[in-house]
Amino acid sequence: MNGEKTDFSTKKQVTIGVIDGDGIGPVITAQATRVLEKLLAEEIAAGSIVIKQIEGLTIENRMACGKAIPDDVLAEIKTCDVLLKGPTTTPMGGKMESANVAMRRELDLYANCRPVSIPEKNIDWMFFRENTEGEYVLGSRGVELPGMAVDFKVTTDLGTRRIARAAFDYAKNNGKTHVAVVTKANIMKKTDGKFTAICHEVAADYPGITVDDYYIDIMTANLLKEPLREQFQVVLLPNLYGDIITDEAAQIQGGVGTAGSANVGDRYAMFEAIHGSAPRMIERGMGDYANPASIIKAAAMLLRHICRADAAARLEKAMAECKVEVKSDGTAATAAQYADAVMALL
Ligand code: IPM
Ligand code: MG
Repeated sequence: MNGEKTDFSTKKQVTIGVIDGDGIGPVITAQATRVLEKLLAEEIAAGSIVIKQIEGLTIENRMACGKAIPDDVLAEIKTCDVLLKGPTTTPMGGKMESANVAMRRELDLYANCRPVSIPEKNIDWMFFRENTEGEYVLGSRGVELPGMAVDFKVTTDLGTRRIARAAFDYAKNNGKTHVAVVTKANIMKKTDGKFTAICHEVAADYPGITVDDYYIDIMTANLLKEPLREQFQVVLLPNLYGDIITDEAAQIQGGVGTAGSANVGDRYAMFEAIHGSAPRMIERGMGDYANPASIIKAAAMLLRHICRADAAARLEKAMAECKVEVKSDGTAATAAQYADAVMALL
């Protein structure tokens, strides 16, 4: 499904779909939407940007329809160019597929880009996680046999080549000189072996960029090891390892509530927080204290993606300057107070 890439620098009208999600999703997504509305006020008034609320991607509606993404919701989603999405709840076990995984597949969002940056510690990492295959492609279709259970992991040439290209293009266009390819190819010899081999093939087209292979276990340690970790720039990995290591990297940055994420395909792109819907925060009545920084960062990535680089830079600067803290135990600012503070700095 390799489609035409949208050129947002010339597109007359860009539609941003907003999906609230479950749990703390509506709280944090509302704040990110306020920020976008302020930054894009003129363009919204002029009609070159449309912000469209998409209803129905809730766990209740998904369970009632028996579909990870109900058909009418998917049709609405496909009328948008880009999406800002709150976290959605994934039931553990059972047959219901994660809405995230379904959306990544349906919209062919093959590149999951997750930046982690801590300037004072000399850390500037960009993770490129393959987003449509690996353990996820058949994740809800494993089999249970008497006394055993089997899940599947699938790696394709096309899937690997396009994520590798995305990572190396990013490196080339952003003055990066090193890509770390992270797998467990000593054990997952076929799938991760293929992933590694294809990444090296692609690397041959990027002469100024060096490539090193790491196994995922030692890489999780390396991210904690100073000063070694400062040398990492672009990290390229299969789906599940990328899922796990980006939570670790986000925690090093200050918590999963501080990290945004872009899910990019050729036709569509979806921007979200890297964390889940935190239903326990809602149960404890602490929803208002969910940190919206993650999804506001994702909104900045969205702005850059649609070629609104000035607005993205303004937002990133305001976030870097904002000293307001949000804590999930309710001892600091609320999500809305945080967004107010960021907006005052714009
Ligand atoms: C993420 C999340 C998702 C994933 C879940 C919600 C399906 O953990 O975006 O990192 O595993 O990819
Ligand atoms: Mg994850």
